[in-house]
Amino acid sequence: MSETPLKMDGIAVDVATWDADVLVIGVYQGGEPQAAISLCGEEVAQEIRQILKAGWMRGELGEMVFLPVARQNGLRISRLLLAGMGKRESLSLESFRALGASVVKACEKSSVENAICLLALDKHNGFKHWQILETMAEGAWLGKYRYDCLQSVGKKDSPRHSMKKLWFAVQEERVARCRKLFEKVEIITKGVMLARDLGNTPGNLLTPEVLARKARELAEQWPIKTTIHSGKSLEQKGMNGILAVGQGSANPPCLIVMEYRKGGDRPVLAVVGKAVTFDSGGISLKPGAKMEEMKFDMSGGAAVFGFMQAIAEMKLPINVVGIVPSAENLPSGTAQRPGDVIKMASGLFVEVINTDAEGRLILADALHHAASFDPDVIIDLATLTGACVIALGAHASAVLGNDDILRDQLCQAGERSGERLWPMPIFQEYQEQIKSVVADIKNVGGREAGTITAACFLSRFVDEGRAWAHIDIAGTAMDLTGSRPHVPKGSVGIGVRLLCRYALKERM
Ligand code: BES
Ligand code: ZN
Ligand code: ZN
Repeated sequence: MSETPLKMDGIAVDVATWDADVLVIGVYQGGEPQAAISLCGEEVAQEIRQILKAGWMRGELGEMVFLPVARQNGLRISRLLLAGMGKRESLSLESFRALGASVVKACEKSSVENAICLLALDKHNGFKHWQILETMAEGAWLGKYRYDCLQSVGKKDSPRHSMKKLWFAVQEERVARCRKLFEKVEIITKGVMLARDLGNTPGNLLTPEVLARKARELAEQWPIKTTIHSGKSLEQKGMNGILAVGQGSANPPCLIVMEYRKGGDRPVLAVVGKAVTFDSGGISLKPGAKMEEMKFDMSGGAAVFGFMQAIAEMKLPINVVGIVPSAENLPSGTAQRPGDVIKMASGLFVEVINTDAEGRLILADALHHAASFDPDVIIDLATLTGACVIALGAHASAVLGNDDILRDQLCQAGERSGERLWPMPIFQEYQEQIKSVVADIKNVGGREAGTITAACFLSRFVDEGRAWAHIDIAGTAMDLTGSRPHVPKGSVGIGVRLLCRYALKERM
């Protein structure tokens, strides 16, 4: 996680009181600056318009140009940062996230320590000022993240951590509300950072036991009750799905349960997250190429950790049970075999056709365990199927389940948070594909509709009539391109923002 925390705040539009290294001004594609540029004084504004007319900058989204300005007319700022916003009509909430991140990155490249941003003073493309504040702040925090705790060389003198404070200019009467908004966004993004840190941690450093220790640490810091089931406790509960996946590894599996109950007699939400700390495929070994990416196979569990921390820090008046089954999927003399039949915690018999379809085995026991808390809603997140990567790629997670209202609420929370979902069906006909000859069901459903048949499998461990949604994050949990400024290469921390907005009932 970044060492220097970035402070964000609102600042009243009183130019004479401003004192910062840099003033950030938005510029539309074609070189038209935002209206708030007039705050710089007519002389400066005129000069900049001239420069933009001369084509110094195109104003494409993310284009960042520094300009020196003379300190004059009470303006105590000597550098402007012209921030390209792209076409006005193409601006989206996601553009503002990217803008927030690009501003911080440009500033850090130039060792800037603080800046005042004018972007939220204008109505861009109809967005409200608070939407711009929220998304830009979110982008700034998300963009500042880097996972460099495993790099020992050159880190100390890197200018990358220079940025300390970013102010957003707003009307005076909005400063207090702006501060509240930032407080909330900061807590949510801290949850994302936790999820990213866990996701980025390599398999040798993050075993199921280490993850369990992290859950105990959360319980020390926040009003969260953590219970770890391992060894005998898993055996007693008949959690043979979790035990079978973990039996090939020297690092034993466990089931992590984190309870946050501040909602009195309000409904209970259970969030379940797959945490395979490394997925080699087991005896059905994966090909070697890119196998290292399977350290991210615990991203669903990581999202649950980040979410639990965020709701506890926000002190939300809700009841949430976070359930994280964790195992390491390795081949060895003790590993499970294709053809094995296991009796799951629910009593259902499962034939293991492919040991690489391990996520559904550990989730099945976790979903069954979730029912013991009698939740009104169950949401699970998992890097479950390669098929989902093929279907939706990196720009949306798949959502499946048994409740249309829950699904729609999650989709709307997805739009609001920028972590988009797209629905897939679980028609009865698909259940045929997981019928087994020797057992009740098998853990693979063939080549067709892999994401759906995985969800079919999970559905067999959820009571009928209990609202349940399954979110497949296989395509969205890691970013290998670094093409979005607010999403660094590696673990995305996907799901935390989505779950927070869902819990806050903040939807689009
Ligand atoms: N962890 C993988 C799914 C995955 C693939 C996540 C790519 C992220 C990127 C999962 O355990 C798996 O291997 N699933 C198999 C299931 C198959 C054997 C039915 C898959 O999707 O290939
Ligand atoms: Zn697998
Ligand atoms: Zn997996």
